This record gives sequence, C-alpha cells and structure tokens, in this order.
Amino acid sequence: MSSCESLSQELQTLFAFIDQNSEQFIDLLAKAVKIKSISAQKDTRDDTIFMVKWFEQQLQTRGLTTELVDIGSEQWPDGQTLPLPPVLLAQLGNDPTKKTLCVYGHLDVQPADIADGWNTDPFVLIELDGKLYGRGATDDKGPVMAWINIIDAYQSTGIDLPINLKFIFEGMEESGSVGLNELIIAKGSTFLANVDYICISDNYWLGNTKPCLTYGLRGNAYFFVEVKCAAKDLHSGVYGGSVHEAMTDLLALMSKLVDNKGNILIPGVLDDVLPLTASEEAMYESIDFNHHSYREEIGTKRLLFETKSEILAHRWRYPSLSIHGIEGAFSGAGAKTVIPRKVIGKFSIRLVPNQNPDKVGQQVIQYLENEFAKLDSPNRLSVIRRKASKPWIANTDNDNFKAAKLAISSVFGVEPDLTREGGSIPVTLTFEEVTGKSVILLPIGGCDDGAHSQNEKIDRKNYIEGTKVLASYIFHLSKN
Ligand code: BES
Ligand code: MN
Ligand code: MN
Repeated sequence: MSSCESLSQELQTLFAFIDQNSEQFIDLLAKAVKIKSISAQKDTRDDTIFMVKWFEQQLQTRGLTTELVDIGSEQWPDGQTLPLPPVLLAQLGNDPTKKTLCVYGHLDVQPADIADGWNTDPFVLIELDGKLYGRGATDDKGPVMAWINIIDAYQSTGIDLPINLKFIFEGMEESGSVGLNELIIAKGSTFLANVDYICISDNYWLGNTKPCLTYGLRGNAYFFVEVKCAAKDLHSGVYGGSVHEAMTDLLALMSKLVDNKGNILIPGVLDDVLPLTASEEAMYESIDFNHHSYREEIGTKRLLFETKSEILAHRWRYPSLSIHGIEGAFSGAGAKTVIPRKVIGKFSIRLVPNQNPDKVGQQVIQYLENEFAKLDSPNRLSVIRRKASKPWIANTDNDNFKAAKLAISSVFGVEPDLTREGGSIPVTLTFEEVTGKSVILLPIGGCDDGAHSQNEKIDRKNYIEGTKVLASYIFHLSKN
C-alpha cells in the first residue's frame, strides 16, 4: 500500500497536511526541547513542573479537556523534600460510538550538559543534515509532540477525529515513574474505564530503515550500595594505612556482581528466567538486524556474543547487570589525595519474564550482606533499592497491532518487524493489568538516536513520517 492511489482520501489529505506543516511541527518540538525538564536533578524540578503545565496549555489550545493530578512529593536521601510534577490527564472526544485510545508519554528528559561532549547546546533543537539534535528529541518529546501534530492535522483538514483520545503524560519517567502506578490503578474505574487500546511511543526502531512494532520490555531493579568509613573525608597521607577505607570495601563488593563476560554472579537471580525456545531463536534469526553495524555504531571491537540471535536474546530476553557509578568518589580532573568518608555504588539489573523483582531484590541484598561480612570490615553497609519496574511481554495477535501494522504499511510500504526492547517503561504492565486491554509500543525514532547519550537526535524523516503513522494508526483503529 505504498502508492498514494491505494490510500483513502482522508489519509492522503492528512499526509499532505503533515508534509506541508513539517516546519511548524519542528518549531513545536524546539519549544519543548528548550524546557530543561530533567526529572533526576533537584535544580530542574521547577522546569519539569513547568514543562507539564506548558504542555497542558498546548492541549487546551487545541480544545482538549485537561486535568493536572497532584501526586505529592518525594523525599531525597539527604532529607530534602521536592514536589513531584503533576500528572497530566487529557481527553479529546467523548463519542460512545467511537473506540477510545489512551496514549502515554513522558515529558521529562535525562540530564544533559554540553561539557559531556555535545556538539551543540542540548536544549536548543538544531537541524543538521536532516537530523534534529536536542535532549529529548527522541526520548520522549519528539514522539509526544507527534501526538499533538496529528490533532492539528485532523482539526485543520476538517476530518472528523475517528476515535476518542485520552492522554496520560508524566514528568518522572526517567526517575522511575514515581507515583504513577498508584495513579493508574486509582483511575482504573474512572478515566481508564472505557479505554479500548493503549499506545506508547517511547522506544526506537531496531535499525535505521525498517520500522517495527514492539511487544516486550525488560524491567529494572535499581540498587544503591552505601559504605561509610569515617565522620568526614580524610587526608590519605595522614590517615592512609590506618583505616578501613569505604571505597576499598565498595569496590570489592561491586566487583562481585557481574564478570567481564556479562555473567551475573548473584546466586539464584537467574533461576526463574524462562528458557529460550527453538521457535524463539528461529524468530530472532528472521529479524532484520545487522549486529555488525550495531557493533560498529557502539564503537567496540567485540561484543559479548557473536551471533545475531544471541545478541538479540541478550538484549531482550535475558537479564543483564550494569554498574552505573559511584557517588562520593573523587571524580574531577586532576589528582586529589583524599579518602572519601562515604561512597554509594549504583547498579541495576534488567529483569525479564518470569523473574520476580522482590525476590531478586532480596537475593541481591542478602548476597551483598554476605559478601560484606566476608570482608570483616568495621565500616557500615546499607543497601537501598528503588521500586522496581516489571518486565512486560504482550500478545500481538489483536486489533491494536493490526491497526498499527496497517498504519506502518500505509506510510512506509513495508510490514514492520515485531521486536522486543531491553529498556524499561515502568508503567507499561500496569496499563495492561488495570484495563485488561492491549498495549502496543509504536516507536518513531531510529536505533542510532542516542537516547540518554550525547547528541541525542531524531531524524526529521522519522519525526514527520512518524506523525503520519500515528495519524494513520488512529484511522485504522477506528475501522476495527
Ligand atoms: N524510552 C526509554 C525506555 C526504552 C529504553 C525503551 C530503551 C526502549 C529501549 C525510557 O525513557 C527510559 O529510559 N526508561 C528507563 C526506566 C528506568 C528509569 C526504570 C530505563 O530504561 O532506564
Ligand atoms: Mn523514554
Ligand atoms: Mn529514557
């Protein structure tokens, strides 16, 4: 269905409008990128709250009814309390003869600093060579703005919105979606009661040329391992040689989590991982994915596994443990001869079916305590874990996936691959459990967009064609 002739009149009109208004859509994304809605930093909490309010305004201008739900505040480990950004609920259309789609997205972004190696200001969207660079361009402001763009497209062309739209946008996703699970559960019998389908555009194509639809995510269990050795930082020349150093203990512990071949060393953690089936492996073989260019793009000589299906399986359906950082460690340039008084190691495990986050959490804490006891150290250990997000895997044999497949064909003229993802979106499973309806992940950005990284971008083509996919998707949903 790639040629215009086979497209319905409505879709042709919508697609033409989207092409003609692409500059305006890019301007909207630029306005969103400019707002420093970094949820993980204290000093940008106000900007994150502002981002939600700005977006509410955008929706109100387009005639949506909106509500900001206060979800309270959060306490930081240092005792400070910060207000949480409100959750934005919005609705367009309330026609009982139409299907209702609920869309979820996030308005917060990862931290970004030009000093980390960005070529341009991360908070100024700039187009270079068909790529739109800026923090949030692909994760998740670009995809979220695409939803507004389709509202413009339907309204300006005078084409009746074929379904009712409901939106849930939050500002804490990058920090674990604090408070959102509870809100979704609370809205199960009201705002979410008559929802027929759920769609999330917050992941990426597997490659650069072929679109995909996604039916699985890994979960995430995040740990903070704190070791304290002294009342204050110590001069290593004065005290070194006489004290049990916190950093030494912490490094001993952190080195026992995972080996350099990627094997998780914590007993019991892998017990519940579903075994790989032959049909699953065959399916990985058939997916359009080039693990050589994947390796090259990363910039490494060798990956942990050699074959395509092993790489995909280990990204999507096996757990992995990554060490993220050490707070309190001296990390600046130059040489400082200090013994830090307190250090906090941070690591997380990507969880897969059928691992149980609480069971894994207990296994990890038990293991760290046992290993710490073996060190025979007088220091104080405390392990804290953040509320885990659960893995999600869905059935794709339903009207939601059918409509999305048709939408992709109508824009790109190809059938999408069905993929899973190694990343996590904490509330995905909750939406499915609360509504009992199909959730689909409909990615817009490409595999090399660099979410969370320097020079994050979305290709102009992905943003604009992605907007068309969403316009087509709701059109096809209404035909179910
Ligand atoms: N958009 C990502 C989720 C994602 C990542 C999907 C990679 C597909 C591939 C999302 O914004 C994100 O970064 N999620 C966090 C969640 C964590 C804070 C629980 C993640 O995966 O680290
Ligand atoms: Mn995201
Ligand atoms: Mn993210």
